[in-house]
Amino acid sequence: MNYDVNEIRSHFPALQSGAIFFDGPGGTQVSQQVIDAVANYYKTMNANTHGAFATAQKSDAMIAEAHAAFADFLNARSPDEIVFGPNMTTLTFNISRALGRWLNPGDEIIVTHLDHDADISPWLALEERGAIIRWVDIHQDDCTLDLADYERQLSTKTKIVAVGGASNAVGSMNDLKTIISLAHMAGAVVFVDAVHLAPHSPIDVQDLDCDLLACSVYKYYGPHLGVLYGKYDLLDRLQAYKVRPAENTPPHKFETGTQNHEGIAGALAAVNYLASVGEKYGAPYAAQFKQFSGRRLHLKTALAAIKEYEKKLFVRLMTSLREIPGICIYGITDLARFDYRTPTVAFTLDGKTPREVAEHLGQQNIYVWDGNYYALALMDRLGLEGQGGAVRVGLAHYNTVEEVDRLLRLLTEYATRST
Ligand SMILES: Cc1ncc(COP(=O)(O)O)c(C=O)c1O
Repeated sequence: MNYDVNEIRSHFPALQSGAIFFDGPGGTQVSQQVIDAVANYYKTMNANTHGAFATAQKSDAMIAEAHAAFADFLNARSPDEIVFGPNMTTLTFNISRALGRWLNPGDEIIVTHLDHDADISPWLALEERGAIIRWVDIHQDDCTLDLADYERQLSTKTKIVAVGGASNAVGSMNDLKTIISLAHMAGAVVFVDAVHLAPHSPIDVQDLDCDLLACSVYKYYGPHLGVLYGKYDLLDRLQAYKVRPAENTPPHKFETGTQNHEGIAGALAAVNYLASVGEKYGAPYAAQFKQFSGRRLHLKTALAAIKEYEKKLFVRLMTSLREIPGICIYGITDLARFDYRTPTVAFTLDGKTPREVAEHLGQQNIYVWDGNYYALALMDRLGLEGQGGAVRVGLAHYNTVEEVDRLLRLLTEYATRST
């Protein structure tokens, strides 16, 4: 593996501060390329769209290129299958409301205990249309989805299946292909929350055959912006909640109001940054992605290289984390099963609240999250809600072995220190 983490880090000005960023599942740092693209938008093309003058036309061209870039990132068939919005949560509420128009009382929607609430509450909202919500349980021992329970909940009454690609709390990845094909056999539409999966694994919406999929660019080195993929035919058939003068074709009919143009410019730069990672470090993975070329190929190989690098770091983290006295780790800890999880781990320490642990690390310039990170249903299921949740450490492609070792040293020392 020729991955050079120091070269990667040199692109991220925030990393020069000396702080250790293990808060990636909440939001990652951005590269200079992204910062420059946002500034350049304001300097050279700041205007509303569809005007008869240069800045408006440059904005139009940049936004079109950004749709194409995300079609490459997700392997969509067309840039018109990519919808931008303020964040994943808002896009999901919009699409659930649109899908809700097709529901009749008694129709069923499947959600899971593993998901972030942004992939639960927008579906619960459809109870007002008479929809019945069915919950898929987890295996508590390793925080993976109970697929047998999923099959029990699924029936011809199921109209929508809402499932995550990976848990933002405990890192478990779902077997999306199985879940999606079973849902389609039952005649349901599948919505995938790929917010936590997108930074850690290549995503191919055609291979998955999902109907809808959402992610957030700020989780993978870009600005705060949400992205929704939808099969064109589905987006076309759905009625959008929109103003009358706005275009009535996908993706524009779902992009309500004036978009965050500077954010879209930064998001385009984030995709191009990732493609450059693929160009530099992706060659060993190219054989797995023979059907792709150009930016699509570089994006796939970038994520493959990132996945392997993060896995190596995570093995080191988990191997020693498991040995810390008084630690309780939630999720898959078996190193042999690391292809089924992201490098995100949640844990509690005996005698310390998650906030105390996060504060202690924060004082040493190590940034980790504590709480429920909006994975409310999961925290409830694990009995952690109301107890401060858990501490969450998330590795990103710019973290290093030295950072992991420093965290482990401090945690071990903190766990064994008498209070
Ligand atoms: C798995 C997952 N889904 C959805 C969301 C919500 O994304 P957004 O902040 O873009 O609304 C998050 C944010 O943390 C997340 O981690």
